[in-house]
Amino acid sequence: MSAVVDLDVTGPTISPHVYGHFAEHLGRCIYDGFYVGEDSEVPNEGGIRLDLVEALRALDIPNLRWPGGCFADEYHWMNGIGPKEGRPRMVNTHWGDVEENNHFGTHEFMALCELLGAEPYVSGNVGSGTVREMSEWVEYLTRRGDSPMARMRRENGREDPWKVRFWGIGNEAWGCGGNMTAEEFAAQARTFATYCRDQGDNRLYRIAAGASDDDYRWTEALMRTVSGLGGAGADERHGHAPIQAVSFHYYTVTGPTWEQKGSATDFTADDYYRTLLKAQGMERVLGGHARVMDAYDPDKRIGLVCDEWGTWFDVEPGTNPGFLFQQNTLRDALVASLHFDVFHRFADRLVMANIAQTVNVLQAMVLTDGPEMVLTPTYHVFRMNRRHQGAASLAVHVLSETPAREVDGQQLRTFSASASVREDAALLSLTNLDTEQPVTLTVDLRGRAVGEPTGEVLTAAELSAHNVPGGAGAVAPRPFDGARLEGSTLTVELPPHSFATVQLPLRG
Ligand code: AHR
Repeated sequence: MSAVVDLDVTGPTISPHVYGHFAEHLGRCIYDGFYVGEDSEVPNEGGIRLDLVEALRALDIPNLRWPGGCFADEYHWMNGIGPKEGRPRMVNTHWGDVEENNHFGTHEFMALCELLGAEPYVSGNVGSGTVREMSEWVEYLTRRGDSPMARMRRENGREDPWKVRFWGIGNEAWGCGGNMTAEEFAAQARTFATYCRDQGDNRLYRIAAGASDDDYRWTEALMRTVSGLGGAGADERHGHAPIQAVSFHYYTVTGPTWEQKGSATDFTADDYYRTLLKAQGMERVLGGHARVMDAYDPDKRIGLVCDEWGTWFDVEPGTNPGFLFQQNTLRDALVASLHFDVFHRFADRLVMANIAQTVNVLQAMVLTDGPEMVLTPTYHVFRMNRRHQGAASLAVHVLSETPAREVDGQQLRTFSASASVREDAALLSLTNLDTEQPVTLTVDLRGRAVGEPTGEVLTAAELSAHNVPGGAGAVAPRPFDGARLEGSTLTVELPPHSFATVQLPLRG
């Protein structure tokens, strides 16, 4: 295969926030994941697990979405502040029907974000909350001066307001977030967002809950409501633009029924290809939402956010079905690398994306087991790709036919690539999905002189290779010796079922 990359013809900047994360009160994501409690033997700060924080800091996590998901529309934030022993309890009806003690609340979440160096993305309750409740949460978090909520925050030990930019208005309002029609939700979102005030110099970026998969009608209904009011700041009289972005969710889930999504670790090569075909669908779906938005907002002032994405398999045998705990193999890693290529290509519209979820739930970065912890294959893709965050996107022009295979009557492209550039270096991400054939790619690098390539490759003998607590790292990146430079031609030999990053220092 051959391709051309013009290193001096840069596209839109890749928003760092497409490498965002998601932590819901679900299964062992918060409790027994991020939060072990202050009395735990696992080293922690204020109950937050420190080995986990250290591992995640290496990913340069740009933002963390919380408290849900479906949980967000049942969550009443005032139950999660003040002395822990006095906090009211509730039942987490969506996820396992377990009791929630509210020990991890607003202050603990903001402390976690500070430890991670990530921006908070708070998901507000529209489904069972009130406009006043959401408005007061914003005031509690962000108001500097004197006010009832600012005083309450100080009484709870925090003098200064926090900076909070990303604010979610509801979640999956078509389902767990209230079973609304698109039109009903659009009207609600407009009202809720209006009363989420910019306090002082804190500027909110309000994200209206969006569609599932390819429900473009939902996006259209939101855009009809939002585009005359929203990010464009049309309400100049009041200087207040209620909604700055709309979201959607897209999960890589296959299987004949929802009850039979397939095992995360026990799968055939056909299952593998079917999963990757579904993952490749992100390009079509993201493109579909982007085109609807273009019709209402050609100047791209309203952002698109995919605040839940990732694989969804059957839970690990013997675990609570409501906890969504699944293992994570090389297949998951390749799902992630395909998604990032798509996200980079849509840098002009996509402002944020959040993997579901960071710890112990669905396509996680980290799995914990008591004091032990492992990094998943997906974690490594996030780390290997992290220098795309905030870089200028570059087009990878493939000149020859992209290898493909037929899967369930559709074409799965078995090679994928994306690239970006910053002042001193270019970064190429390359994925070969073929389980047996390597790929040889020659890239004509034009426009800037480059130095010797360095890189990393992630692969394993088995597609189902994964990492277990206490085991040796079966799937981990190693230095990549498959990239050679002659003049301005880069030749890359990519092994079967692998993901590689190649970094090229720029000269002049
Ligand atoms: O990520 C798990 C769940 O998936 C979220 O709570 C919900 O928004 C989605 O259906």
